[in-house]
Amino acid sequence: MHGFLIVVLLDLTFDLVGSVSQLEIDKHLEYGREFLAKGQLQDALSHYHAAVEGDPTNYLTYYKRGTVYLALGKAKFALLDLNKVLELKVDFTPARLQRGNILLKQAHFNEAEIDFQDVLSVEPNNKDALYALDRLSSAREDMKFINTLIYNDDHAAVVQQITRILEICPWSSDLREQRAESHRHLGDYMSAISDIRSTTKLLSDNTEGFFKLSTWLYRLGQVEEALKEIRECLKLDPDHKECFPFYKKIRKIHKFLQDARTALENTKDYNSCIDLSNRILKEEPYEKNVQFTAFHYLCKCYTGTSNTTYAIRNCQEALEIKKEPDLICDSAEAYLAAEMFDDAIREYKNALEIEPNMQRAKQGLQKAQQRQKMSESRDYYKILGVSRNASKRDIIKAYRKQAQKWHPDNFQEGEEKKRAQKKFIDIAAAKEVLTDDEKRAKFDQGEDPLDPESGRHQQGFNPFQEFHQFHGSPFQFKFHFN
Ligand SMILES: *[C@@H]1O[C@H](CO)[C@@H](O)[C@H](O)[C@H]1NC(C)=O
Ligand SMILES: *[C@@H]1O[C@H](CO)[C@@H](O)[C@H](O)[C@H]1NC(C)=O
Repeated sequence: MHGFLIVVLLDLTFDLVGSVSQLEIDKHLEYGREFLAKGQLQDALSHYHAAVEGDPTNYLTYYKRGTVYLALGKAKFALLDLNKVLELKVDFTPARLQRGNILLKQAHFNEAEIDFQDVLSVEPNNKDALYALDRLSSAREDMKFINTLIYNDDHAAVVQQITRILEICPWSSDLREQRAESHRHLGDYMSAISDIRSTTKLLSDNTEGFFKLSTWLYRLGQVEEALKEIRECLKLDPDHKECFPFYKKIRKIHKFLQDARTALENTKDYNSCIDLSNRILKEEPYEKNVQFTAFHYLCKCYTGTSNTTYAIRNCQEALEIKKEPDLICDSAEAYLAAEMFDDAIREYKNALEIEPNMQRAKQGLQKAQQRQKMSESRDYYKILGVSRNASKRDIIKAYRKQAQKWHPDNFQEGEEKKRAQKKFIDIAAAKEVLTDDEKRAKFDQGEDPLDPESGRHQQGFNPFQEFHQFHGSPFQFKFHFN
């Protein structure tokens, strides 16, 4: 702290005087070294800046600053400093080696080679230079095949080849860009994005890189991320021919998405959510992964308005693009709202196949199965149209009346008859339970004695036989009532 104060005060003095004393420069160099040792690179850099300004003819100071730049990953500035070093001191081998190595990492083979050869002309046995030249020629060899591979559209081989070269030339923006393109040809957008992102860092004014990065992120449906990167392009060039129109388009989509999400999650304004999602689909007729989100919102928002037909339809549209477990559960809920229990159960099981421990799907499955059971369970009193305290006599009377009315023989073949058969079976089951004291007591306690799930399957229970015990043969039945 104390030292800093002195530095600042001295700085002011020098500004006034217009020159810097050697003492002051030494101080900066000392601080620079200290910060460097502590790994505080930015602080070290500030002091080396000051030292360079104080004495622009000292090659060692440039060399030190160049080393810090290199540690910060700023190869461009490191190279400028090393150029200066070699301008001031042509035979400073460490700088020449370092410059050669940077150039090699950038895949600038010819320039790098000159530096290494220069070192060898002074020190023919310099191990570092010999080793570097060896690696250089191997990378250069590998490089020769790339164009042929690209020409043959063999992008898997391009990726492999470039990956090898990048071990020697990790700072080559061109190689990373080409690998990104090849990944994209292979449909691997995640890897393509990772490579193109690194080119935006390797090249400081890479508007093209930001444009590609943004369009690829958008293709993946990552609209927010895409917007962020296209803004980086516009920071470098506000009127960029491709970046600006793309920015305008995705900013609009992004706004619709945000508003639809708010309508869905916060205000529960499902009609707005539907409207906004439809606008996204209108603005974006091509990119499936962007449409996916709109269809997903429609799936949820139509469920919110109880428009189950449209909910199910949009859930399916989204599922055709991506089978995400959360979406599958939303689809299950749409089916549940439509009381389509089999479909709901199937969807929850689908989600659990992808994510076996998904709580939402587990609970949903349980709920759907319960509701299905409830919907299937029969209220025997209702079926016969008697009150819950009806006597056995009343029950038998009601049964006879209903059974006559719904006997399948009274109906024509087809839907009508099928419905009657089902009714008839229910009516017989109701009589079976409500005329048996034990079964009736069970039913009154909320249990269905005929429920196959409860382990007492209606074995031997034949509704027609039951009926005929009361009425004799079908022939007699007809005779009796006609
Ligand atoms: C469901 O939504 C569609 C589209 O908005 C509409 O045409 C249809 O009438 C709606 N159905 C119901 C049952 O509300
Ligand atoms: C059954 O209970 C209702 C009231 O819950 C009563 O009004 C009715 O008289 C009762 N019927 C018989 C048969 O006990």
